[in-house]
Parts: sequence; structure tokens; C-alpha cells
Amino acid sequence: MKFTVAIDGPAAAGKGTISRAVAERFGFAHLDTGALYRAVGVKGGDPVEAANTLAPADLARDDLRSLEAGQAASKVAVIPEVRAALLEFQRKFAAQEGGAVLDGRDIGTVICPEAEVKLFVTASAEVRAHRRWLEVGGDEAKVLAEVRERDERDMNRADAPLKPAPDAVLIDTSEMSIDEAVARACAEITARLPA
Ligand code: DC
Repeated sequence: MKFTVAIDGPAAAGKGTISRAVAERFGFAHLDTGALYRAVGVKGGDPVEAANTLAPADLARDDLRSLEAGQAASKVAVIPEVRAALLEFQRKFAAQEGGAVLDGRDIGTVICPEAEVKLFVTASAEVRAHRRWLEVGGDEAKVLAEVRERDERDMNRADAPLKPAPDAVLIDTSEMSIDEAVARACAEITARLPA
């Protein structure tokens, strides 16, 4: 069975947590597509070259979750040649037998416009910054500024900007627990699974 779940949304909205949980619940493979852009961003050198030669070791680096890696990812993600270099890998992943969950910014709009389930997971910038701050620590105001800067760049780039697909289901997690958000996502998937 091929069945694709596309989960998009801004930084720290809960996409990663929801994606991992639903992948486990339904036995689907999961791809965190942000990690691809983070790996390109931290690799250094020419980003197009880095995207074309991305290897498993690049994705295993332990500094991919840092604020700096997030910023670097958001900057290389505006380059159309970088996005093009990562497209085929993501589409193949989505089309694998047994079902796949991909989370990112453009999964429902560009990578998998035919996905069976499209979710757009969001939350207020303050709530997202607070969650990210609990993960990375440091100065919370700086984390909020970083979240806003990344939102701005991700939503306003010319190529594959962050936006919900017209048929995406919106899930605002600002006032939801993780369990509630996961339950919402699972209900949407269950409703669309083949009988
Ligand atoms: O989801 P994340 O925070 O790990 O993503 C890091 C950056 O990568 C994000 O700010 C923009 C970019 N990105 C993208 O442009 N398209 C995707 N599908 C995933 C991430």
C-alpha cells in the first residue's frame, strides 16, 4: 500500500513530535525533511554542491537541532537548486510501500500534492518559541526573534514558500497537549485510510 501523510508548518509547531507519533502508530516510515536542509546548511561550502552530495553521515551529525543549524537551513532553503536537488529523494521516500509520513514546509504543496492526508500544524510564535527554548535553553527573547525571522524567510521566499495546501487540515496546537494534537492527526489519517 502507498499512503502519504504530508505534515507542514512553521518552526517548532509540533510537526516533528506529531509525525514521529503517527508514524509509530500506523507503522509508516518517517522523514524529517527539515533535517535535509539543516544538513546542507551546516555542511559549509557551496550549498548546491552540498545538496547534490548529501550522504547519510551528514544526516547523523549531532549539531543539526541547534538554532544556528535552523537558521543556516532556512537560508539555503531559499536557493531553488538546493530544493531541486532534494526533491527526488523526498518523492521516492513518499512513494514507498507501507506508507510514509513526511514533515516540512512544502510537502503538501510541492513535494506530494497528491498526498492522501495533508495537515498544516501551527501555533502562535510565542508558544513555538517557548517550546523551542525549553529544548535549546539560552535567552528566550532571542529564541522568539529567531523563530520570527525564520517564519518571515520561510513564508516569503519565491520558491516553495511555507503555506497550507488548499486542502490541508489546519491543526493549531497553541492550546493543545501533545496527546490531543496526536489524537487529532490520527483521526484525520484513520478517516482517510483505505478500508
Ligand atoms: O523543520 P525544521 O525547523 O527542521 O526546518 C529547518 C529549515 O529548513 C526551515 O526553516 C526551512 C527549511 N525547510 C524547507 O524549506 N522545506 C522543508 N520541507 C523543510 C525545511
